[in-house]
Amino acid sequence: MLNCLFLTKNFAVLLKYPFPFDLSRVEKKAFPIYFINMTKKSDYQFWPGPMEGVAHEEFVGTVNELDLVSRWMTPFLRVSEIAPPQKTVARFLKSFLASGKPVVLQLMGDDPALLAETAKRGISLGASGINLNCGCPSKRVVRHHSGGAMLKQPSQITEICRAVKEAVGNREFSLKFRSGSTDWREIGDFLPGVAASGAVDRFFYHCRTVAEAYNEIANRRERFLAAAEMAGNIPLVLNGDLDDSAVSFALLGECRAAGLMIARNWMRDPYLLRRCEKKDAPDAETGREEFFRVFCAKNPPRGAKLEIARMLWGAASPQFRALCEK
Ligand SMILES: Cc1cc2nc3c(=O)[nH]c(=O)nc-3n(C[C@H](O)[C@H](O)[C@H](O)COP(=O)(O)O)c2cc1C
Repeated sequence: MLNCLFLTKNFAVLLKYPFPFDLSRVEKKAFPIYFINMTKKSDYQFWPGPMEGVAHEEFVGTVNELDLVSRWMTPFLRVSEIAPPQKTVARFLKSFLASGKPVVLQLMGDDPALLAETAKRGISLGASGINLNCGCPSKRVVRHHSGGAMLKQPSQITEICRAVKEAVGNREFSLKFRSGSTDWREIGDFLPGVAASGAVDRFFYHCRTVAEAYNEIANRRERFLAAAEMAGNIPLVLNGDLDDSAVSFALLGECRAAGLMIARNWMRDPYLLRRCEKKDAPDAETGREEFFRVFCAKNPPRGAKLEIARMLWGAASPQFRALCEK
């Protein structure tokens, strides 16, 4: 049982917490109170959530220039009728690889052989690993039996995982998935089997179902704990409304997870992942302004500027409205 009693910028005090989740982070004072040092650097991995339609060249260039991430996962590269040619994959990876950081290429599709072939191309071009998207809720994607639709076909997921893992050899193959289609308990239909297949090196778990899209959910902790149990020894990265708060860090510890993946909150605060990693970072508003200044200097199209301003400040913000009127 976890009860987070109070939080300050640098410390969280946990009550009735049975396991120190990471001895390097937790200093036991008097059982059952644990004092978590939030300022200490850790081995946890902090990932930017892949964002199709947002992570275009100017966006990725800005992130790279400001050194905002330690690793990338690309948005999905769709693999449907054919394996995308080498030069398409190279173009897709280019701005991410320019960071010099590890880049995981995310694929989406339902054909094991085509996905395996594309994975090989990605690795040969410099991707550090391959990820399979099993969570995209887009109606079009689901209609084509990809993304979130895969969750209804556990044996198909396992078959793809085996084929892609074989193709990438000793490079990391990971799966990004949601809880299920309509009921989060569907996770029990596929995750234990996929974990047991031995084909997946890391899981990224977005705790909503496909039907929940981006809605708020009440029992996030219960879902994360269930997934952690089912993932067994395979590293699990948590995803879904997380940030650099003590609550997020407590979940990380309680689930003995390998890291956090953060998408929209990172877009609202571009230095958020640096803050998670205990690196220098300005306050959130200064960070947004700096990000937008560097982004605009790259002369992105007007639509991209609007999209980024909307994600940084929100549609009701004066910054976004002023841009709309220009
Ligand atoms: C605009 C947008 C595009 C996204 N594109 C992808 C994608 O290409 N691949 C993927 O796995 N998830 C994608 N996601 C999902 C996010 O990576 C993440 O799993 C989800 O937003 C939940 O995390 P958050 O609550 O931190 O935002 C996208 C989300 C958004 C908002």
